[in-house]
Amino acid sequence: MALLLSGKRILLGISGGIAAYKSADLIRRLKERGAEVRVIQTDAACEFITPLTLQALSGHPVANSLLDPAAEAAMGHIELAKWADLLLIAPASADLIARLAHGLANDLLSTCVLATDAPVAVAPAMNQQMYKNIATKHNIDTLKTRNFYIWGPAAGEQACGDVGMGRMLEPLQLVDLVLEHFAPKVLPLEGVSLVITAGPTREPIDPVRYISNHSSGKMGFALAEAAVQLGAQVTLIAGPVQLATPAGVKRIDVVTADQMYQVALEQAISAHIFIGCAAVADYKVAQVATQKLKKTSDDSTSLTLVKNPDIIAAVAALTSQRPFTVGFAAETQDVANYARQKLVKKKLDLICANDVSLSNQGFNSEQNALTVFWADGEQQFGLQAKTELAQQLLLLINERYLHEKSH
Ligand code: CTP
Repeated sequence: MALLLSGKRILLGISGGIAAYKSADLIRRLKERGAEVRVIQTDAACEFITPLTLQALSGHPVANSLLDPAAEAAMGHIELAKWADLLLIAPASADLIARLAHGLANDLLSTCVLATDAPVAVAPAMNQQMYKNIATKHNIDTLKTRNFYIWGPAAGEQACGDVGMGRMLEPLQLVDLVLEHFAPKVLPLEGVSLVITAGPTREPIDPVRYISNHSSGKMGFALAEAAVQLGAQVTLIAGPVQLATPAGVKRIDVVTADQMYQVALEQAISAHIFIGCAAVADYKVAQVATQKLKKTSDDSTSLTLVKNPDIIAAVAALTSQRPFTVGFAAETQDVANYARQKLVKKKLDLICANDVSLSNQGFNSEQNALTVFWADGEQQFGLQAKTELAQQLLLLINERYLHEKSH
C-alpha cells in the first residue's frame, strides 16, 4: 500500500534555535510516511544540530551555503527550490521570520524561499517575549498575507525557563499538518453537474443582419469557471461571445434562441442544476429573408417579430429529470417585485436579480451586484468582481439545491 506521503518532496529548512534538535525526529517521521526529505540548515542551525546527523537521517547531503561550489554542482539552490512540493521551515526563528518578511535572500534558506513556487510552511519557535513582540507579530502577519502557512507555535515551558507561547509544534503535530496539506481536498461542488447558458442570442433578419443585445457573457463564463474550481462538472451553452473557454468546461456554441433551447433541453435532463444566465432574445424575426434585404423608397419599414421559446421556463417545467433551476433577471426598476414575479411565473427555484440601470454593473461590466430570491428567502451580494461574485453565488445555489433535495 502506498504511504500517505509517497512521492512528496519536502524541503526542510532548519534555522537556529534549540528546537532544531527536534528536526531529527521530524525527518524520521516524514520519511516513515514515504516523503523524500532534503535539508537546508542556516549557519546558526548547524550550532544546534550537526549536518552529519541530518544527512544520515535524510539520506542526502545537507545544504547550507549559497557559495559552496561542490553543493551547487550537485543540486544548485534554484534546482533545490524547484524540486520541493513543500518547503517546511521548522524551527523558524524570529530572525529568519523577519528576514522572510522583508524578502531577503542573504543565505541559502531565505534564497530558496524566494526562489520556490511551492507552498511554504513556517513553524515558529522562539522565546515567548520575542514571539509577543509587535515586530514579530507584524512579520508573521506579513507572511500570512503572502499565503505562507503558519503552523504553531504552541504554549508551554520553554528551554530558557519562561512559560508562554513560542514552543515549536511537536514533530508529530507538524507531520499531521503536512498530511492535511497533501490530503486530497473534497470540493463543495464535487459530484454536482451544472448546465449554464451564457451570452446573448443572435436572431437573423437576413444573411447579413441580426437582432441581438449587449450581453457580454462574462457572468455566465465566470460562473462556469468558478463552478469547475469548486469541483462541479460544467456544460456551458454559449451564445456568440468573444470569451475564452474556462479550463475544464465543456462548451457548446449556439447562435439563435431556438438552437439554445434545443441544446439546453438536451443537456438539462442530465444535470443537477441549470443556470439560465443567457440574455435570450425575447423575439425573433417571423420570416428570415434568404437574400439580403434591399432599401426601398419608403421612409420606414417594419419587421414582424414572433416570440422565442422561453428556455428556462421549459427546463423548469420538465416533469421528470428536472434540474434545480436558477434564472437571472435584469431589471431597471422595482427589482425585487419583478424578480419575484419571474420566480413564480417561470416556476424557478431561485432567481438572481440585478439592477442594470446602474452604469457600473451588469451588462458588459467586470463587476456586478445581485439580490437572490427564492420562495421563502433572499440574500444580497454587494458590488464586486464577477469572478468573486460567481463563487459566492454558486455556494448559495448549491446550499439551496441540497436543501431542496433533502425535502
Ligand atoms: N430566459 C430564457 N429564455 C428566454 C428568455 C429568458 O431562458 N426566451 C431566461 C434568461 O436566461 C434569464 C431569465 O429567463 O434567466 C430572464 O427572464 P426574462 O423574463 O426573459 O427577463 P426579461 O427579458 O428581462 O423579461 P422582461 O422583459 O419581461 O422583463
